[in-house]
Amino acid sequence: MNRDAFSEALLQIMERKQHWAWPGFNSGEVSADRLHVHLEQEYATYVRDFPVLVGRAYVQCPIPAVRRELAENLYEEETGGIAAGRPHPELFLEYPRGLGMDLDRFERIELLPAAAAYRATLDELTIARGWVVAACVVTIFIEGTCHDRGELDPSVSRRPAPPLEQHPLVVHYGLPLESLALTKAHRAVEGDHRAAAWRCVLDHSREHARADAVEAMERTLLAWLRYRDEVAQACGLSSRS
Ligand SMILES: [Fe+2]
Ligand SMILES: [Fe+2]
Repeated sequence: MNRDAFSEALLQIMERKQHWAWPGFNSGEVSADRLHVHLEQEYATYVRDFPVLVGRAYVQCPIPAVRRELAENLYEEETGGIAAGRPHPELFLEYPRGLGMDLDRFERIELLPAAAAYRATLDELTIARGWVVAACVVTIFIEGTCHDRGELDPSVSRRPAPPLEQHPLVVHYGLPLESLALTKAHRAVEGDHRAAAWRCVLDHSREHARADAVEAMERTLLAWLRYRDEVAQACGLSSRS
């Protein structure tokens, strides 16, 4: 698979990283007493261990230039030492804290079945399938969005970044603005960070590793969609409404 075909296959998968329940979450349809389910499942499927997931790509990668990018990403995620000032998983917990949730719950989260399956897929694909698969799943799929084409193609619009005052958690659930520290930090590093992630997998992957990576991304997407269906249902949203 050549570089262009690889890029296009990955972008098409990213364009399907959309879920029917997103508008429901963003318009405040989830009752405040169920929102914790969404935040807890996100935290335990990938947020809490995200630096470790990046590390799995790092340790499998023989290319110093790629390792440096991964090391920088890992360092920022684990410590916030470049931009955020605090570890990103810790900053994520400012959402539930700012919403007045019981933070003890975040120390003993039980994953719902499809959430556990999504996490198992992430583990399987990041531990021993080579750095290209791991980097695609972690730095392209998990960190990326359906707007990623805008990171590569200047003629396509990038991910919209409305003012923080309009963040759904602020508008519908009264989250204080200062609790959006992670959103702010991601916006600050995102531009460079996304472009670097794409450059690494597109420029440094060997042709033979690319088909595996596309298949892994497809599996990740399907597991994620099932996981999001389950969370939506647990939060009281239904695809018919
Ligand atoms: Fe990151
Ligand atoms: Fe992050």
